[in-house]
Order: sequence, then C-alpha cells, then structure tokens
Amino acid sequence: MSDTAKIQTLEYRRDEVFTVADESESCRLAERFVAGLQPGDVVALFGDLGTGKTALVRAMAPPLGYMGFVNSPTFSLLNIYPAAKLEIYHFDFYRINIAEEALDIGFDEYVQNAGICFIEWPEKIIDLLPEKRWEIHLEVPDYVNEPTGRSIRIRKFAP
Ligand SMILES: Nc1ncnc2c1ncn2[C@@H]1O[C@H](COP(=O)(O)OP(=O)(O)O)[C@@H](O)[C@H]1O
Ligand SMILES: [Mg+2]
Repeated sequence: MSDTAKIQTLEYRRDEVFTVADESESCRLAERFVAGLQPGDVVALFGDLGTGKTALVRAMAPPLGYMGFVNSPTFSLLNIYPAAKLEIYHFDFYRINIAEEALDIGFDEYVQNAGICFIEWPEKIIDLLPEKRWEIHLEVPDYVNEPTGRSIRIRKFAP
C-alpha cells in the first residue's frame, strides 16, 4: 500500500504523511519535494539509522544540478556538493557529542547563505536549527513484513 497518487500531486502543505512501498517511491517523493525548494532552504532529516536519510539526499542532489557521488558525511560532518546554480551542504551530525562541534565547522554561516542544507541527525543540534526550515521524518512502520516500506512525514516550519 502506498500513496503514489498523493506523491504525484505533492503540494506545499504544512504537514503531510506519505506511505511509500520502496526506495524508488521514496526517491520519487524526494524529487517532487526538492522541486519546490528555494535557495537558502534548510531541510532537517529525522530518522533512525538505515531509514533512508542519505538515500533521500542522494535522490535530491541531481534535480538540484549535482550529478556526482553522495554519501553520508559521517566522519567529515559536512560534504559540499557544487551544484549547477547553488551549493548543497550535506551535514551528518551522528557522531557529534555537543552542538558546538557544528558551530566549529561553520554551521551557522552555511544555514544563512543561499545554498541548500540537508541535515542528518538534526536532533543533535536542535537548538541551532533555523526557525524557517523543512523537516522530513522517516520511519519503517513494519520492518518484518515490509522492510522497504517507509512512512515519510514532511513538515514546513516558517516563522
Ligand atoms: N523506501 C525506502 N526508502 C529509502 N531507503 C530504502 C527504502 N527501502 C529500502 N531502503 C534502503 O535502506 C537503506 C537506507 O540507508 P541510508 O539512506 O544510508 O539510511 P540513513 O542515512 O537514514 O542511515 C539503503 O540501503 C536503502 O537502499
Ligand atoms: Mg545517513
């Protein structure tokens, strides 16, 4: 069971939950979503290990004009992808202990400039997230019976 039709008509509602059956559908949703992003937007990706945060960033990079390799910056904390019109900043804060470590790599400046920020493990720096942001929440509702199924909640926060 999935929300194929709903994905195809994705509009920018404030809070929407999508059920997808497999990774290709996750990617389709991500492509629809990214088409509506503006320069400077910040996207926080919540979800346990293996729920597909990096997979979504990988799907969103080509529509933004970056055709290269996308992998979790687990060790470097930040990958910068030079896309056609703007830079993509891909953060992964899984390994940090305190939020100051994000500030040390210039997080504050990156979220304020015109590039697009994707942030894995935003819970680690929750107080540093800008008020205006997108949140994507990934869950695996039934790993035993539907290991590739995901629940994907997209929320828009604007002050
Ligand atoms: N519906 C789905 N959406 C996203 N990824 C999926 C889906 N079904 C299976 N997968 C797999 O789950 C894994 C997600 O890994 P990854 O994106 O690295 O997760 P995370 O970054 O959240 O730790 C990948 O191996 C991907 O192929
Ligand atoms: Mg990841």
